[in-house]
Amino acid sequence: MAELPGDLSAALDEALSRADSGTLSRSVQKLMHQYRDGFDPAERMVLGSATDVAAYAAYRMPATYAAVVAALERSAELMPGFSPRTHVDVGAGTGAAVWAAAEVWPSIEETTVLEQAPEAIAFGRRLAERSDSPAVRDARWRRTVISGPVRKPAADLVTMTYVLGELPPGVRADAVRSLAADSEMVVLVEPGTPAGYERVVEARDLLVELGLSVVAPCPHDRACPIPRGEDWCHFAERLNRTALHRRIKVGTLGFEDEKFSYVAAARGDRSRAAGRVVRRPVQRKGMVSLRVCTEADGLLDATVSKRQGEVYRAARKTDWGDPWPPAQGPN
Ligand SMILES: C[S@@+](CC[C@H](N)C(=O)[O-])C[C@H]1O[C@@H](n2cnc3c(N)ncnc32)[C@H](O)[C@@H]1O
Repeated sequence: MAELPGDLSAALDEALSRADSGTLSRSVQKLMHQYRDGFDPAERMVLGSATDVAAYAAYRMPATYAAVVAALERSAELMPGFSPRTHVDVGAGTGAAVWAAAEVWPSIEETTVLEQAPEAIAFGRRLAERSDSPAVRDARWRRTVISGPVRKPAADLVTMTYVLGELPPGVRADAVRSLAADSEMVVLVEPGTPAGYERVVEARDLLVELGLSVVAPCPHDRACPIPRGEDWCHFAERLNRTALHRRIKVGTLGFEDEKFSYVAAARGDRSRAAGRVVRRPVQRKGMVSLRVCTEADGLLDATVSKRQGEVYRAARKTDWGDPWPPAQGPN
């Protein structure tokens, strides 16, 4: 179960302490409707008011934070020598990816945050002041409206999380290309829906064309082997819902599974996972079934039985999204 770090949780509690839960609840309904039915980029900003920003921070930020940490951790595992000093987050909202990157890479010293919505910048800054990380506290927040290539400083790490779907389709390719300029690693995260996955695959192919190679989740740079329209590559993080979340999003469980699609691509050679588990493993008596995207053979369904001893024990501990076979362990 993913947990918010103590400083972020305290900062959110403090920032939301005076918000009226009925007002937030109405804003949540509106935002959910926009995210579900599609956002018309010709309309005004999604996070256009202080109430909408507070509602986003209360019901979405913990989940986007958890998904981004998961995507970054899986990338960091495969890039043990990567210790970014500079980070740019594009379309930061209230700063989920700023906090997530500082958590995964404490080496980050300088953070630049680009966002279009002034109310989101104000809220994000207020949260960031409460961070234990100097990189988060001292981040430079800049108002930027993306309408083509993103004007950003050079950076070791560039993130853009849950943003592509809000950009007009004609702007996405230029925006993605510009993220790769003057950066070592680019990480994109989108909702784990068929449409979110399609946007990630398009962006991934552009990054590969530009000479970057995929760090995670794919174990190769070739075309995605998942047949279009039949399935989509996505992962999930389970997190506890806060008491406020349960109040403003009526009728929900005490936890949620945040589904996400992602790609991390970087310059230079590095080791890659031989394969990655792309569905929730199914455990039956004495048997574990894994769907694995492999470097050599595309998608494979592997069944591991108790008779395989150490391999079976490793399979039982393997999660959706983990490398397979594990980096250290049975082959
Ligand atoms: C769904 S929120 C994601 C926020 C944050 N990255 C996260 O993961 O929680 C999308 C963000 O992208 C920003 N955004 C959308 N279109 C943009 C544009 N054209 N230029 C700059 N920011 C944009 C929105 O204002 C919003 O803050």
